[in-house]
Amino acid sequence: MSTTTLAYRAAILHSLADPAVVGVEQSYEYFEDGLLVIDGGQIVQVGNAADLLPTLKGVDITEYRDALITPGFIDTHTHYPQTGMIASYGEQLLDWLNTYTFPTEQQFADKAHAANVAGIFLKELLRNGTTTALVFGSVHKQSVNAFFEAAEALNLRMIAGKVLMDRNAPDYLTDTPESGYADSKELIERWHGKGRLHYAVTPRFAPTSSPEQLALAGKLFQEYPDLYMHTHLSENRQEIEWVKALFPERKGYLDVYDHYQLIGARAVFAHGVHLCDAECQRLAATGSAVAFCPTSNLFLGSGLFDLNKLEEHGVRVGLGTDVGAGTSFSQLQSLNEAYKVMQLQGKKLDPFKSLYLATLGGANALYLDDKLGNFLPGKDADFVVLDYTATPLISYRMQQATTLAEKLFALTMLGDDRAIKETFAAGVSVHRRD
Ligand code: GUN
Ligand code: ZN
Repeated sequence: MSTTTLAYRAAILHSLADPAVVGVEQSYEYFEDGLLVIDGGQIVQVGNAADLLPTLKGVDITEYRDALITPGFIDTHTHYPQTGMIASYGEQLLDWLNTYTFPTEQQFADKAHAANVAGIFLKELLRNGTTTALVFGSVHKQSVNAFFEAAEALNLRMIAGKVLMDRNAPDYLTDTPESGYADSKELIERWHGKGRLHYAVTPRFAPTSSPEQLALAGKLFQEYPDLYMHTHLSENRQEIEWVKALFPERKGYLDVYDHYQLIGARAVFAHGVHLCDAECQRLAATGSAVAFCPTSNLFLGSGLFDLNKLEEHGVRVGLGTDVGAGTSFSQLQSLNEAYKVMQLQGKKLDPFKSLYLATLGGANALYLDDKLGNFLPGKDADFVVLDYTATPLISYRMQQATTLAEKLFALTMLGDDRAIKETFAAGVSVHRRD
């Protein structure tokens, strides 16, 4: 073992595969008294402490009591410029955008403001155990520079992009097809593949981009390897009608993106609440992903996401907070609301499926499952320490629990930032609650 080898001892749980594919029992691995061994920011091995300890002479071991170590959470859709307008009252999507979102995003023309909010946002992610996110910037390229500078300083694996938006938005917040393309290209050249950072071509949604801009966004998405595409899709019924009116020649909402080559591996569509079977089929066939954003869908009254339908079609699905339409940075709270979204449709959300959605499922949606999502050797050492005694109620509830499934479920229902004792990114502690 090298001198930089470190080990963490606690109960350890990670996903191995999607429970919808392999069944719940085969989907995870659990070590009641486990050991996570890391070196150089990567996972070396995970297993039972009793088996591994004799092989680790002289290695520094950190022990946690009443704690559960899991992979860091992955947020597959969020907006950092909307941090300050989270919990804005009374509107559904289109009025919410005009009333709150656009005026808030205007402030990101100022780099110093952007840097300040990027710092607040990243701190909040880490406080909530989220180590990777797919993030909207604002239309201003300096907003994305500010975000990547802050993420780079913490050595986080982050994906972000400048919003493309050249119509149906206030003048102060629009670019042009040419300037949006050129600014995005400049950001890609500077940041994509630098350290653990990745770039996402980010048309806001079909209504705010002209056909010319969507065509250039599609060209850009095809131009560089491993680039992401990040947008919104079928979130709200009024929005869907608007897309039909704006693009009458297309078969439907997804077909607009499809036509402009904004679909395929690493294309991530937020929401997808009102998708038809043909759209689900097309998403699956192209390897595209959908971000399920339960707190946002409930807050904006957008509708109930049909997880089982997307599962049946084999679509990659991750979990998103969608802050600031989402009401929490906590993926535990996203899972709490996801459970209720399923209940309202007469369906269940198994706690191990929840774990998968927040970790390996997100990694799979982002094509980062070779680097993130569980504790297989060689992956990034991004992990969280969850506290079974975070609050008096959680502590008492855990005492009643007799199975791991029960504990995990109660943690997703009752937990939030208070349940995150410590967060590690690339093997380094980046948040400590106490
Ligand atoms: N659709 C277009 N822009 C947005 C946004 O900022 N938030 C959400 N939830 N949906 C959108
Ligand atoms: Zn969004």
